[in-house]
Amino acid sequence: MTTLKGKDILHGNQFSKKDIDGIIKVASGLEKELKKKDSLNLLKGKILATLFYEPSTRTRLSFETAMQRLGGGIISMGSVESSSVAKGETLADTVRTVSQYADVIVIRHPRTGSAKEAAEAVSIPVINAGDGTGQHPTQALLDIYTIRKEMGSLKNLTIAMVGDLKNGRTVHALAEILSLFGARLYLVSPDSLRMPAEITSHLKARGIGIVETGDMMQGAVASDLVYMTRVQKERFSDLSEYERVKGSYIINEEFLKRLRKKITILHPLPRVDEINPEVDGYAGAAYFRQVRNGVFVRMALLAMIFGER
Ligand code: NCD
Repeated sequence: MTTLKGKDILHGNQFSKKDIDGIIKVASGLEKELKKKDSLNLLKGKILATLFYEPSTRTRLSFETAMQRLGGGIISMGSVESSSVAKGETLADTVRTVSQYADVIVIRHPRTGSAKEAAEAVSIPVINAGDGTGQHPTQALLDIYTIRKEMGSLKNLTIAMVGDLKNGRTVHALAEILSLFGARLYLVSPDSLRMPAEITSHLKARGIGIVETGDMMQGAVASDLVYMTRVQKERFSDLSEYERVKGSYIINEEFLKRLRKKITILHPLPRVDEINPEVDGYAGAAYFRQVRNGVFVRMALLAMIFGER
């Protein structure tokens, strides 16, 4: 069995295929248990702290839900403006302080590498909930869990990742994990928002077939699943450049009609305009099921970190 006991979760490339299989198995077991009971008592007495230096809805709330469904407690720093961060406290000092209260820290921060920095400052496990344009490994794990559930298997898949592949941390982590399963990837983006070379070269070194294109239809026609992403407005120093590329890719009824095949659609959310709500009722629109899966996967990660699974 894989062991995440006492470990940090920082990067998509820290996992082996065996780790991923183990996490999926534990998450699926917990999902079944939750059908019988509202909460389990695995982490009674443990405390999880959430430190979010950037906006979040799903990631913070699903970690808090996961911890409470496991019988544990949560504390939260709240907004940056209302904490000592506003007085100029360093990240290292803040996490050292929080580690005096909590047993595990979940952190989101605008600086790439910040979660690793936090992990180095404390002895309790740290979970990266998004570090700037870097990584978002727990999102990638819930994405993988969703892909497995929706497609029935992780073998022989062709997946189109669409949108802001440069700044989107979810696709960075997900591409690393998908590469363990030999998936073929269509990387669909405007030229200025291509997947960083450091990731594509790592994927190529793992023998993954990659096609980089600006054409969403080309990617979707060849794929089993489309993973849409939002253009990350907050990462643009030049807003006119954002205005130029936003709205590059939109899935709507008309696109699905032209596609003339069934496809599964995922999105880490929040969406802006890249998936028209008219598509929400389509059988392959899996993004709200994806949200729900986040709780089971985060429960699995927490249970495993504390050695309870
Ligand atoms: C993503 C993020 O924060 O990176 N959101 C999420 O955690 N589900 C995606 C995004 O903000 O576009």
